[in-house]
Amino acid sequence: MTQAIDSTLTYQSGFGNEFATEAIPGALPQGRNSPQLAPFDLYPELLSGTAFTAPRHENRRSWLYRRQPSVIAGRYRPFVQTLWSTGVEGRTALPPEPLRWAPPAFSDVPADFVEGMTTLVANGNAAMQAGMGALMYCANRSMEKRAFVNHDGEMLVVPQVGRLLIRTEMGVLDVKPGEIVLLPRGVAFQVTLPDGPARGYVCENYGAMFRLPELGPIGSNGLANARDFLSPVAACEGGEAAYELVKKSGGFFWTAPLQSSPFNVVAWHGNLTPVKYDTHHFMTIGSISFDHPDPSIFTVLTSPSDTPGTANCDFVIFPPRWLVAEDTFRPPWYHRNIMSEFMGLVYGQYDAKPGGFQPGGASLHNSMVPHGPDGEAFEKARGATLVPQKLENTLAFMFESRYPFVPTSTALKSSTLDPDYAACWEGLRDYSKN
Ligand SMILES: [Fe+2]
Repeated sequence: MTQAIDSTLTYQSGFGNEFATEAIPGALPQGRNSPQLAPFDLYPELLSGTAFTAPRHENRRSWLYRRQPSVIAGRYRPFVQTLWSTGVEGRTALPPEPLRWAPPAFSDVPADFVEGMTTLVANGNAAMQAGMGALMYCANRSMEKRAFVNHDGEMLVVPQVGRLLIRTEMGVLDVKPGEIVLLPRGVAFQVTLPDGPARGYVCENYGAMFRLPELGPIGSNGLANARDFLSPVAACEGGEAAYELVKKSGGFFWTAPLQSSPFNVVAWHGNLTPVKYDTHHFMTIGSISFDHPDPSIFTVLTSPSDTPGTANCDFVIFPPRWLVAEDTFRPPWYHRNIMSEFMGLVYGQYDAKPGGFQPGGASLHNSMVPHGPDGEAFEKARGATLVPQKLENTLAFMFESRYPFVPTSTALKSSTLDPDYAACWEGLRDYSKN
């Protein structure tokens, strides 16, 4: 289904702001949140994303003013989605080697954004609100009259092919490859595909909500600036058309009929809302002398754990940028990290793997698994003339977590798993024997 909504959409700018928006002027109560009778006889409904008593600077909640409260739904029955698994299930092998997957092919089997979702790797436990899953979606049809609510985590969506038109309780967002969207836990949404088939990556974050990282000595500006995050404006869907509501709860899927649209919020205010962000606005920091800094300088958003500086998940991008460092091996160094890394490539080439890492593919370098540039990249970089060089038309990203990622059995059995990934380092000979 194609919808013509695109550039006509308007947004509110900022990250974590106290927004206030009305699809119908006068729909927001003034001076209180829950009057005896709200304007237009709407139902006030509170949605909290953090505990009531979370510190004020972390506290997230929004008040929704809607035609009917979200408690109205028919009977729930199980919904079949076997490829979207949650957390670490049972004793699953944790391979000690690097893994890489080719891009998944589009199927002829009809699949919407929910049906087309597959978990590749995961860690933690949704019920314990720790860890995350890294998933890929391949969708070839819109969600039509289906809405989805995820109780298990917020969803960071990284489109790789195809635009997504996402209707949420707070309003509508239009997201294309190069942009990302963050959908809070518990917020109903529906994905339609205005440009046809769509593919991309998802971080299902069971842990603390993503936020902007601290900037430290960088100062008060830089990396992802708060004003470049865009939230939707209230956009109440009218009519009494029936919907299907699909919910994910504790790793299980459920379906219930709705007599009318769940997107019936006429006005809302608060700081819990979906946001989108265009990675072209990311202000990169890099070396202007020698060596390159740790990749944490490319952090867009972070989900902290209870250990300071040790993230449940960091969302890190490798966007176009200048390389100017002198007397420096410019690609990533060889490394073994305590943190675990799931990588994807939205478009272009990744400088550490110019040939083997394809857009739409994925790689996994778990805690303490050695990795670095492949033989081709190393050979090129050690002999390169170090003139200023611009990496252009490229966008790789990383979900980095303190918890090792366990691949799903689906991912380990997939025909897209590269059986010869480690061969890309075979050419790294002992140059000291020259
Ligand atoms: Fe790495």
